[in-house]
Amino acid sequence: MTDLIDPPIDIAENTPSNPGRGLTIGDLIERRYSRREIMRGSLAVAAVAAAFPNLAADFAASEAQAGTPVASSFSFTELAAGSDERHHVANGYDADVLIRWGDKVLAGAPSFDPAAQSAATQAQQFGYNNDFIGYFPLDGRSDHGLLVVNHEYTNEDIMYPGIATGKTRIEATRDMPTALIEAAMQAHGGSVLEVKRGGDGKWLVVDGSNYNRRITATTPIRLSGPASGHPRLKTKADPHGTMVLGMLNNCAGGVTPWGTWLTCEENINYYFANSDAVKASPDAEKYERFGIPPKDFAYPWSKVDTRFDVGAEPNESNRFGWVVEIDPMKPDSVPVKRTALGRFKHEGAGNTVNKDGRFVVYQGDDQIFEYIYKFVSEAKIDTANHDANKDLLDRGTLYVARFDDGGRGEWLPLVFGHEKLSAFASQADILIDARLAADALGATRMDRPEDIEVNSQTGKVYAMLTKNAKREETGVNGVNPVNPRPKNKFGHIIEITPDGSDHAATGFAWDILVRCGDPSIAAVGATFNPATTADGWFGTPDNCAIDAEGRLWIATDGNSPKDTGRADGLWSMETAGPLRATSKLFFRCPVGAEMCGPFFTPDMETLFVSVQHPGEPEDGQKSTYDSPSTRWPDFQDGLPPRPSVVAITRTGGGKIGA
Ligand code: FEO
Ligand code: CA
Ligand code: CA
Repeated sequence: MTDLIDPPIDIAENTPSNPGRGLTIGDLIERRYSRREIMRGSLAVAAVAAAFPNLAADFAASEAQAGTPVASSFSFTELAAGSDERHHVANGYDADVLIRWGDKVLAGAPSFDPAAQSAATQAQQFGYNNDFIGYFPLDGRSDHGLLVVNHEYTNEDIMYPGIATGKTRIEATRDMPTALIEAAMQAHGGSVLEVKRGGDGKWLVVDGSNYNRRITATTPIRLSGPASGHPRLKTKADPHGTMVLGMLNNCAGGVTPWGTWLTCEENINYYFANSDAVKASPDAEKYERFGIPPKDFAYPWSKVDTRFDVGAEPNESNRFGWVVEIDPMKPDSVPVKRTALGRFKHEGAGNTVNKDGRFVVYQGDDQIFEYIYKFVSEAKIDTANHDANKDLLDRGTLYVARFDDGGRGEWLPLVFGHEKLSAFASQADILIDARLAADALGATRMDRPEDIEVNSQTGKVYAMLTKNAKREETGVNGVNPVNPRPKNKFGHIIEITPDGSDHAATGFAWDILVRCGDPSIAAVGATFNPATTADGWFGTPDNCAIDAEGRLWIATDGNSPKDTGRADGLWSMETAGPLRATSKLFFRCPVGAEMCGPFFTPDMETLFVSVQHPGEPEDGQKSTYDSPSTRWPDFQDGLPPRPSVVAITRTGGGKIGA
């Protein structure tokens, strides 16, 4: 979810729910920049010289020794940074819109008509704010498969005509007619689409395919794992605590080796109302730790469905904030919320099969001062029989990360019986309130953990920390070894190396790959490799992908003309060799949009990306349904901007970026 100015949805992501407990702050200067960062980074030599005279001399020497230019692993010609109404891709590539919000998904769905939207039409059409994308080959093919897409949230004021006239975005959303609230509920969730390349090489959605499916805020979903059936998951409508209607705010995700889609519920607090009921509840602290209800803005869903009123249904919010597993190959399968992976504001579910066969899922909790988690399955994956893995995610150990000085860290198990977790009554309680359990273990409070992905070739893990402007010099919210920059407006990327290349190990090493932002401004403290051009740097990393050749690609959320002079987009990033921390701009979003969901086909000839919330107001500018900042991708009077999935291919064929 992006930086929203009004309504301030992003304010909660950028406002802590974690009170913290005070950290020992050592030598700030030493922590601020590691020696390795200085040696390879683009910190102004003068700034280095002032803080680290000896290192500055080494830096100058290493610069002088730099020999012939080293070739980039990415062959494309870099795009110019900037921001306008359109999308742009590097020269020699095609970027074609595959499907837009409102396009037909189910057989018989009506065509998109912005003036005649309802729950009934939206339930059959592509949802709003496409985020994570996964591709599942059919018959092993890279030109025919199933595409799964998350629909994270809604921007009512630019979706529906008439509701925002003369109103702020908060007022427009708060006052919208109930029929449109019900339509917006159907715009959430996810889509499964059968897709293939036609004779002209262009991708298309197979019209009326039996695979095509919508999952929404009202789809029945099973609750499984240790918290299933727990009293805190029981409601009047579900006295067994095992079935919930819908999934909400599905941000990033993952795909499993056994062919399922992991889709992750993030900012679920925005859908629950009734602050008086929360204040009066004995569980007030538990609600507040999750930001329920949000302070400044909530979707008005409780007006049409009382389960979103905490007073009417105190346990409903405990049934959201999970990782959902869906089998896209079985259109009638019931999605499953896997409680063993914990309840928090999940960003994604990057994963790997460990060398001993256990399955490991890395997870970020996307809010400032929140944590990084991993789940290690108890059983080993069955590579011969996909169905044998159907409950693999129900048993295992959830860990939270503590990052220590000296580039070391430890995974702390969130397990009932641990002496520091004696306040919890059961493993289910620990999982439902995973944030509180992680607090008790002394996990490291991070600068908004977003996507985390594993490079299966090197075993290294990359975690995006998008930003944290509230990080301070000292005190409870002060810098720590792995979040070293106060007022971190532009984020950073960390690299985690598991001990012994064992993703189940509790020990790990860490390093900062890059601190983001404009490297030409010394005060920003960015550490892109000096080979990075003026177009090549970025701020606010959010999603990422690692391609079949082990190369890292970064999608951003939060750049803008005012902040960085550039729209969000997709950048390539070198992670090894002399060019480590060099990035290049490959794709640029239209104004107001963030970049999500980069996902490659196995042959690397297609890269699917999500353009989310084009035309959303940014930099304090107005952008409304009547007068949007862009009408991408249709550019037709009367049609609003539409979030869309874009298929990027190389003109004439070939691997992306090779
Ligand atoms: Fe939904 Fe973390 O962005
Ligand atoms: Ca985001
Ligand atoms: Ca995201």
